[in-house]
Amino acid sequence: MVSEYADREGLRILGIETSCDDTAAAVVVDAREVLSSVVSSQVDLHARFGGVVPEIASRAHVELLVPVIAGALVEAGITDDHLDAVGATVGPGLIGSLLVGVSAAKALALVWGVPFVAVNHLEAHLYAALLEEPELELPVVVLLVSGGHTMLVLMEDHGRYRVLGSTIDDAAGEAFDKVARFLGLGYPGGPAIDHLAMQGAPDAIAFPRAMRDEGYDFSFSGLKTAVVNHVRKHPEVSTADVAASFQEAVVDVLVAKARRAAREVGARGLALAGGVAANSQLRERVLDACEEEGLHAFLPSHSMCTDNAAMVAAAAWWRLRSEGPSPLDVGADPNLRLPDVS
Ligand code: KG4
Ligand code: ZN
Repeated sequence: MVSEYADREGLRILGIETSCDDTAAAVVVDAREVLSSVVSSQVDLHARFGGVVPEIASRAHVELLVPVIAGALVEAGITDDHLDAVGATVGPGLIGSLLVGVSAAKALALVWGVPFVAVNHLEAHLYAALLEEPELELPVVVLLVSGGHTMLVLMEDHGRYRVLGSTIDDAAGEAFDKVARFLGLGYPGGPAIDHLAMQGAPDAIAFPRAMRDEGYDFSFSGLKTAVVNHVRKHPEVSTADVAASFQEAVVDVLVAKARRAAREVGARGLALAGGVAANSQLRERVLDACEEEGLHAFLPSHSMCTDNAAMVAAAAWWRLRSEGPSPLDVGADPNLRLPDVS
């Protein structure tokens, strides 16, 4: 069935993102022009617990979502009757958090008489790269690295994905967060390690690189244990050296696999997505690898790597054009997977 939206130009979509601990809303035109993108981080609420507390997150979304949506509409300079659809992340994520955004999106779509579009959070991360590079030539291999996921995805075309590999234990961001917590660097750990690593030597400690040259799956839990064991055995070790060497081990594995995948599947480019894609060392190494392999590199801006609603609105646009509106009985699904054509 061809969607009645397939050829519509100038679609203004309100995106809503509440899958974890960021409350976000954005207005985007045709997955290209970001009129507004508001993100209210709950980091301060969760920091003293060393990680996201689901119950606190969902309660905070309830309080923050209406002002965040209002802010996005005001910043975009539009009123409700100028919107063409409302898209919201329906999964994967924390069920209580997802429900807040999904319920709000459905209610607004009903009141405004516009379509509701269910968005997969992982697909939204893939569209973050496209939002900033609309002329991105497919196929591309996307390395999606966040707090909850680590995946290598071949994006053959819009909506056509092949999951080449994923983590068999911890996600890359989770490893950064756990190691940072162990080193007493606070939460979230990724930016703290990234910063401290600049003062350390990446070759100071030879941490393990699990499955670096085999297949496309990842494993980071052994690396985290190796860091803990090393610091316990050498309490005098420089924390900056530990941070730099740990980061080097993660980045080395991520880049080696992504680069090999892009070469083996004949991709035109390599894109980064997800919060860990903000890592300065990872960005630098991906640029070097792409130059050596003759690949186009797509590195989304920092604000587009971490959770935001502009990427949700962009993914909603593609879904609306290809499949039309989502039924209002589509529920939140904490375990939603990326649709895989293989
Ligand atoms: O995509 P995201 O905002 O949320 C999820 O969907 O998980 O990713 C958050 C993750 C956290 O684990 C955080 O520590 C990590 O991304 N992160 C980083 C950096 N900035 C955020 N990891 C490494 N280096 C960074 N600069
Ligand atoms: Zn995310």
